[in-house]
Amino acid sequence: MNPFRHGCAVDGEYFCPRPELERQLRSFAESGQNVVVHGERRMGKTSLIMHAIGGMRKIRMIYIDLYCIQTLSDFCRRAMNGIAEAGENMSFIKKAMAFIHRLRPTLSFDVNTGAPQISVDTRAAGAPDSLNAVMGMIRRLAEDERICVVFDEFQDILDIDRSDVILAEMRSTIQFQPDTPYFFSGSVRNDMMRIFDDSRSPFFKSAATFTVGPIKLAEFERFIAGRFRKGNRKVNADTIRKLIGYADSVTGDVQELCEAIWDTTESGAEVTVADIPRALDCVFAREGEAFGESIRQLTPLQVSVLRAFSELDTSSIFSEAFMQRVGTTSTGALRTAINRLVARRIIYQFGGKYRFANPFFKAWLITRM
Ligand SMILES: Nc1ncnc2c1ncn2[C@@H]1O[C@H](COP(=O)(O)OP(=O)(O)O)[C@@H](O)[C@H]1O
Ligand SMILES: [Mg+2]
Repeated sequence: MNPFRHGCAVDGEYFCPRPELERQLRSFAESGQNVVVHGERRMGKTSLIMHAIGGMRKIRMIYIDLYCIQTLSDFCRRAMNGIAEAGENMSFIKKAMAFIHRLRPTLSFDVNTGAPQISVDTRAAGAPDSLNAVMGMIRRLAEDERICVVFDEFQDILDIDRSDVILAEMRSTIQFQPDTPYFFSGSVRNDMMRIFDDSRSPFFKSAATFTVGPIKLAEFERFIAGRFRKGNRKVNADTIRKLIGYADSVTGDVQELCEAIWDTTESGAEVTVADIPRALDCVFAREGEAFGESIRQLTPLQVSVLRAFSELDTSSIFSEAFMQRVGTTSTGALRTAINRLVARRIIYQFGGKYRFANPFFKAWLITRM
């Protein structure tokens, strides 16, 4: 079995402990503090929250994933998924369902896993008052026991029609629950700022800000060495550091690279940097098609900008050399192309430079395009 795991939230032996962050998150939950959790994609926000808060004995976590929601009824369905997962005993689920009878919830059990599932009436869930029904249900549940509500990928709420009204309604119920901690986690910083730095957001202002960045180098090195050992591979600290650097220190990408390295080496082997190219072939075999699809959707100028970004320093993009490399004389056109690439979440700004959201996409551009 591959000792590395990537692509979904991890826990147990696949989770590298992050004691300081875990402690801080737990203490926020204990004191009823609302928190905005920032962090780039695949840094480990979901895993950390699930591990730290999901593992608390005295507080029940209701985890609501808003990834790619488009409508209010999506919101209600995701909330009920969260309820179904939060209730290890049926009495909690039954109580929640009674609180939300307006949406005509029905209970069923997954045929394979036996896990409870709650569905709601689509038309009722799409009606404007359904948000209040969900938020009211949560409020009433929190009157009986300690609950921490987690909205993951919260920025995607902006994709629902009239999201300003929805946010205002959420705000108004949440601000009257000073003892219930609400966590808002998001991976698109600009959208999160749009939501939380709005001057009309009294309770959002009072939320603490928490950032999930790369795992501390020493801790991550120790963890990775341990996983390789478990998988019958030898590897020295220097090589591990290079692997981490190769994946821009992005937690999930480091795991993906390590997973591919393990896959492409023999039992008992000593892993070295010379193993990276074969591991990348393996990653490209899985993801190359998606990379190609992204490229097809870009204009020639945007592709040219990406190529330049993959090879040159991006701190002085309007320099003569950079413009020449891109092949344009128009700073306006260059600016527009960059903005499009940011909007498509292919690159993002980081400390005055631009970074690829996916370091393997960058490696693919360099070696395959
Ligand atoms: N604490 C951790 N230890 C080991 N790997 C982790 C950890 N946190 C995240 N990862 C890796 O990163 C990937 C993405 O994690 P996830 O929690 O989904 O990130 P995010 O929510 O920030 O996008 C996981 O599939 C896993 O490979
Ligand atoms: Mg996540």
